[in-house]
Amino acid sequence: MKDTTITENILYIGADDKDLDLFESQYVIPNGVSYNSYVILDEKVAVMDTVDARRREEWLANLDKALDGRAVDYLVVSHMEPDHAANIQVLAEKYPEMKVVGNAKTFPMLGQFFSIDLSNRSVVVKEGDTLSLGSHELTFVMAPMVHWPEVMVSYEKSEKILFSADGFGKFGALDAEEDWACEARRYYFNIVGKYGAQVQALLKKAANLDIAVICPLHGPILKENLAYYIEKYDIWSSYRPEDEGVLVAYASIHGNTKQAAIKMKEILEAKGAKKVAITDLSRDDMAEAIEDAFRYDKMVLAAATYDGGMFPCMEDFLHHLKSKNFQKRTVALMENGSWAPMAAKNMKGILEQMKEIVLCDKVVSIKSVMKEADIAEMEVLAEELLAK
Ligand code: FEO
Repeated sequence: MKDTTITENILYIGADDKDLDLFESQYVIPNGVSYNSYVILDEKVAVMDTVDARRREEWLANLDKALDGRAVDYLVVSHMEPDHAANIQVLAEKYPEMKVVGNAKTFPMLGQFFSIDLSNRSVVVKEGDTLSLGSHELTFVMAPMVHWPEVMVSYEKSEKILFSADGFGKFGALDAEEDWACEARRYYFNIVGKYGAQVQALLKKAANLDIAVICPLHGPILKENLAYYIEKYDIWSSYRPEDEGVLVAYASIHGNTKQAAIKMKEILEAKGAKKVAITDLSRDDMAEAIEDAFRYDKMVLAAATYDGGMFPCMEDFLHHLKSKNFQKRTVALMENGSWAPMAAKNMKGILEQMKEIVLCDKVVSIKSVMKEADIAEMEVLAEELLAK
């Protein structure tokens, strides 16, 4: 049975979702996702966020059980995205005396999503404001753009708990037995990656708090070794590579560019690259390709030419990277073309729009099928990439 106790008076009331096909209609979640919600039981009762509409009944049942007949005094809304906020109206109607706690950006958004009039029940908080529940006291810390503009986190000082909104969240249901960093990294770069500066700002504020437990809106409650998670967030949000290594990402139509990409992986490994990951942009998870691009310090892009540009999945990949603020990496280019190879020129055009991307001078240009002469060129390119 799931342990729903965080501390004696703070309980988990969220729910797992293991049958959602795509999170946010774009991310595969092989081990599901959790929509976390919490209740603080004190002289006053506060619910910390709701859950996705898909788990409304389970969440209401969990809440009823936790309340044991008591009413809710406050609903704290950290984030208005529907995976957390979908049940605000339901709860407000169930508890007509309940006040809703948000900031100046929360309530206009709430009015856009719901038809309920909460004007007499709104508690508008700003940076540093506190809410006393009895022996527990919440301090509100604004975290704009970690992931939406209205996001705020709450710190409960008596038990040193940070309710961190989407921050420190991950894909995967709570009972998924998997590495935290792998799915937290894929979640971070694809969902919050664009907003590194804002995450850095939040980390600086969090550094002033004495935190014993982090309660995010997705994934496990973090109770131990918090420095590990905070360090990961510091690396990710400052766009520093996490590991030395190379991602080889290829976009191949008939398999010839793929063959060259696999050969490039072998060459890199033979030349001493610490780690070489490879991804088929046509078939593998795009979100994982993006995660690996950020994880390693170097990348090889290998694309077939298509319609005078590059094969579309490579363009899609680069568009994703650009929109996630991809930067500070070293990139090598390989292209293929049967009559007028254009992929490298077009890839370079997109990469040049990103910050601090170092491109290798050498470009390998293959005509239809990799030959011995191409392999010799790839050896040179691999050496240049590893030396940079
Ligand atoms: Fe989990 Fe930005 O919502």
